[in-house]
Amino acid sequence: EHSGFETFMLKEIHEQPRILRALLEKHVSSEGQVLLPDGLSSDYFRKLNRIMIVSCGTAYHAGMYGKLLMENLTGIAVETDLASEFRYRDPKIDPGTLVIAVSQSGETADTLASIRMAKDWGCRIFSICNVEGSSVVRESDAVFLTECGPEIGVASTKAYTAQQMAFALLTLSIASARGNLSPAELKVYLDDLRDVPDAVHYVIRQKELIQKIGEKHHDGPSSLYLGRRFNYPTALEGALKNKEISYQHAEGYAAGEMKHGPIALINESLPVVCICTQTADEVYEKMLSNIKEVEARNGRIIAVASEGDSELAKLSDDVIYVPAVRDEFSPMVNVAALQLLAYYAARARGTDIDKPRNLAKSVTVE
Ligand code: F6R
Repeated sequence: EHSGFETFMLKEIHEQPRILRALLEKHVSSEGQVLLPDGLSSDYFRKLNRIMIVSCGTAYHAGMYGKLLMENLTGIAVETDLASEFRYRDPKIDPGTLVIAVSQSGETADTLASIRMAKDWGCRIFSICNVEGSSVVRESDAVFLTECGPEIGVASTKAYTAQQMAFALLTLSIASARGNLSPAELKVYLDDLRDVPDAVHYVIRQKELIQKIGEKHHDGPSSLYLGRRFNYPTALEGALKNKEISYQHAEGYAAGEMKHGPIALINESLPVVCICTQTADEVYEKMLSNIKEVEARNGRIIAVASEGDSELAKLSDDVIYVPAVRDEFSPMVNVAALQLLAYYAARARGTDIDKPRNLAKSVTVE
């Protein structure tokens, strides 16, 4: 049933490298151009000045990642919101705004309601979706299909990394259409993006080590996940996975916010998962000082670090080393480690991983 894996979730985690590779192959031409989805032209993107991304849950975390990438590389102002909030606020959106909906199922009630509202305001709707023929796809002007195949595990894994890849590809195509990336720069970014599938595969091959760490820390009442910038959404997603399948309370936080409250939680029994791979990014040093603050309060540090970063091993109780990839693309690699960490914590707690209590695969009512 799960093709030799003990659960659908574990099978779907393992499918990620292949799915990411296939998306790269499909959306990059042999001349090294990133193809735009049908219905969206270079000309349209040259004139665009605002994007609004709406989604829920894991897809919202993908949207947060997409926002960071797009605003960084395309020069377009990008906002993101939870669909359930967006639909009840007054976002002052005009027909010149592109609304991007992100949804695995394409049937999430709040996401659908949001795009219907945006359509009434005259906006164009672009969706990143996994289910062809779903309501979100049918109601969009243009679509990027994540083509992961059916995601059966209730906790989303492969759809998430595919949504991130969709944002990476879309960002590169918009940035080159707008002249923000020269052909030579685009080539460098694409070469770096092509490192991602193998890096994810490498993380998955370390599952026995991650299992030991998950088992070691599974029994506490709570855990904290910290990240910054591109990996702030990764921290939120890692915590969400943990909550969903292990029923252990977990909180994702922007590491810079720690001093503004959550630092009060830290003691010797609190596992603090620190995502600290962005060695070329200015936030790396900031992450390190946040980790030192946790260490000084005897928190149990589990670091996700880049291969070769021995500094972090000295500070941490446990380290999951991941291959170094370009900072902008590291969230796809890092989240694989957090999916497995949550998975093995849940397994140690004996929960029903594929069908966690109280959750539905697709939330078709508000
Ligand atoms: C988390 C999870 C949910 C969904 C959310 C949106 O693992 O599966 O948070 O991401 O319900 O669903 P879609 O993407 O189908 O709109």
